[in-house]
Amino acid sequence: MRQIVFLLVSFLSVTVSMAQTPSAMQHIAIETRRTALVIRVDKDQNPTIVHLGQRLSRPEEYARIPENGKRGEDYTGLYNSVYTPAGSRNLLEPAIQVTHADGNPSLDLRYVRHESKPAGEGVELTTVSLKDPQYPFEVTLYFKAYQNEDVIEQWSTIRHTEKKAVTLHKYASANLYIPAQNYYLTHFHGDWASEMNPTEEPLTEGIKVLDTKLGTRADLFQPPSFLVALNQPAQENQGEVVAGTLAWSGNYQIAFEVDPLHNLRFMAGINPYASAYTLAPGKEFTTPAFLFTYSNTGKGTASRNLHRWARKFRIPQGEGNRLTLLNNWEATYFDFNEEKLSALFKDGKKLGVDLFLLDDGWFGNKYPRNNDRAGLGDWQENVKKLPHGLGYLVKEAETAGIRFGIWLEPEMVSPKSELYEKHPDWVLKLPNRQEYYFRNQLVLDLSNPKVQDFVYGVVDGVMSKNPTLGYIKWDCNAVIYNAFSATNPNPSHVYVEYVQGLYKVLERLRAKYPTLPMMLCSGGGGRVDYGALRYFTEFWPSDNTDGMERIFIQWNYSYFFPSIATCNHVTDWGKQPIKFRTDVAMMGKLGYDIVVSKLDEKELQFSQEALKTYDRIKNVVWQGDMFRLASPYEWDVASLIYVSEPRDRAVWFTYLTKSRYKAGSVAPIRLQGLDPAKNYTVRELNVYPGLTSRLNNDTTVYSGNYLMTVGFNPNVDASRTSVVLELTAAN
Ligand code: DGJ
Repeated sequence: MRQIVFLLVSFLSVTVSMAQTPSAMQHIAIETRRTALVIRVDKDQNPTIVHLGQRLSRPEEYARIPENGKRGEDYTGLYNSVYTPAGSRNLLEPAIQVTHADGNPSLDLRYVRHESKPAGEGVELTTVSLKDPQYPFEVTLYFKAYQNEDVIEQWSTIRHTEKKAVTLHKYASANLYIPAQNYYLTHFHGDWASEMNPTEEPLTEGIKVLDTKLGTRADLFQPPSFLVALNQPAQENQGEVVAGTLAWSGNYQIAFEVDPLHNLRFMAGINPYASAYTLAPGKEFTTPAFLFTYSNTGKGTASRNLHRWARKFRIPQGEGNRLTLLNNWEATYFDFNEEKLSALFKDGKKLGVDLFLLDDGWFGNKYPRNNDRAGLGDWQENVKKLPHGLGYLVKEAETAGIRFGIWLEPEMVSPKSELYEKHPDWVLKLPNRQEYYFRNQLVLDLSNPKVQDFVYGVVDGVMSKNPTLGYIKWDCNAVIYNAFSATNPNPSHVYVEYVQGLYKVLERLRAKYPTLPMMLCSGGGGRVDYGALRYFTEFWPSDNTDGMERIFIQWNYSYFFPSIATCNHVTDWGKQPIKFRTDVAMMGKLGYDIVVSKLDEKELQFSQEALKTYDRIKNVVWQGDMFRLASPYEWDVASLIYVSEPRDRAVWFTYLTKSRYKAGSVAPIRLQGLDPAKNYTVRELNVYPGLTSRLNNDTTVYSGNYLMTVGFNPNVDASRTSVVLELTAAN
């Protein structure tokens, strides 16, 4: 019998191992509390994946897992490679493809060593080093295992010491492998004001690719986030699901390949499209991280894993506070002046928000920003609109009793701008082609360090002059056409170095302003990913703020992103009553973009009270666990509940989403996440002035067990299209 050497990566110890005996087979188990990714290294040092799923209680049994879950002949021994190299014996989609300094187009990667060590509380980092036996070319795979959240963050570094540069044609972040009977991929597509539409489809033999080539606004059409359900379509509370998302704000490619043995391989990383990377000897290329979580209790658990992880480890102040705000975009568009704004500050105070956010249109003098055809790049206050400058507005707002924040779009330039006149070589464009505009604008070349300094300076300048400025909305409204840099010696590095340049700027800003709230916006939700969310406290999911549309948009973002980071504004876009729109916006970070002075008395009173209620319940929504109870894709209603960690408080939102006769919550909805042994009172929130709740006279105390077994009917129907209930555990 073959000798088996088992090396379990234990939580608090550091293990470093070399392949001790040539005939030994090793297993590297990257484990979280409930899940495991297991790499097998055979006697020839070939590293393959043999398990991605629930962790085994007896780790020595990983060695028993049948050779790569095969159901037939693997001609190459590479189908389940941990990082499939192209050009030698591989026959399938590779994770990495290179041309060596001598022109040789092949790569082989064998195991050299691995190491595991704690990387913070509840986090363990495993590195696996691979090397080409013929070339001084190495890949190191990194796996950060977040123990309590069941999330694994994976990336790789690539380096070599060949005589000259090596060309990297493809360089994925992760290459995973899962055997199952059937695979169901849920991916999302969209466009402006119609973000995150889900499609679920079975994966069959061959390759399905999700990708973007837009450069910036990378997920306008297709975000880099997906769910793969094993054996059966994804369900909320049962079944095996992998939720994955690439932490990269640029071109990406995620390829799902059902291989000749009917096993699923998937490769996620930077899009190889127009991005061959020339890697000099001794330099290292680091791929972005791919994040994933495995759940065998459906997509609900997968979402909660990612939410907890994001709050704790990724989003700045993810476990902290957020400011409610009043934005002027839909209220004024470009048409404002100091008097109008001062009146809006007072309106914001009257409404009860924490901050006023001044949107687009405050800058540009030679080419004033009075519409979206001019001014981007000229970040000086427009002297006609704001003769006393931003500092005056900051003070005016503070005098009115609220803080002041500002909109910027620092990566962009209008063809009609002084910036473009002065620095045409700072703009991404082709010298011999017509300029193409997206929203009448062009993209600055962030692969150029001088442009990085400029962009940093725009934000730093505004902040230094106005140190009490309380918020930045960072917009990005154009994709990259004619991707060419006048100064970059490597044209095929532009897409990659654009994003790296952006991250360098954000890194510098975060170092100087670690607690500044910043909203990630991209003409709606054109850029929502965990690469950018390392720097932003929140994101703007869509310009579509119609309350009904938002239920669906927020529902789909909720698979991957936590409510504390999801900015929802009450606007006049939807035709629903203000109560409906407010209730929907409360399922995240609440804000407003309305003309407060146009609200009638009851609407104003309702909104003022809603803000006070929100202040009281926001921590349950932001920090609690979210359970999607009734899907608007399947029911007449959409229903979601947020439950505090001690399970003593919950806030439950239900909306009518169908308009057929008698549509509504005709039966009780079973709750989730409560403590079965606790007793809860149920109270309706956001009751419109002048109305009485059908439920608030009910003093019954319900056990968690009852509410989760039998359920409760929130009585949503055409006369009550939106109901918010608060559950409080009785002492
Ligand atoms: C697009 C954003 O999504 C909007 O909220 C607004 O800020 C406009 N840009 C301003 O131009």
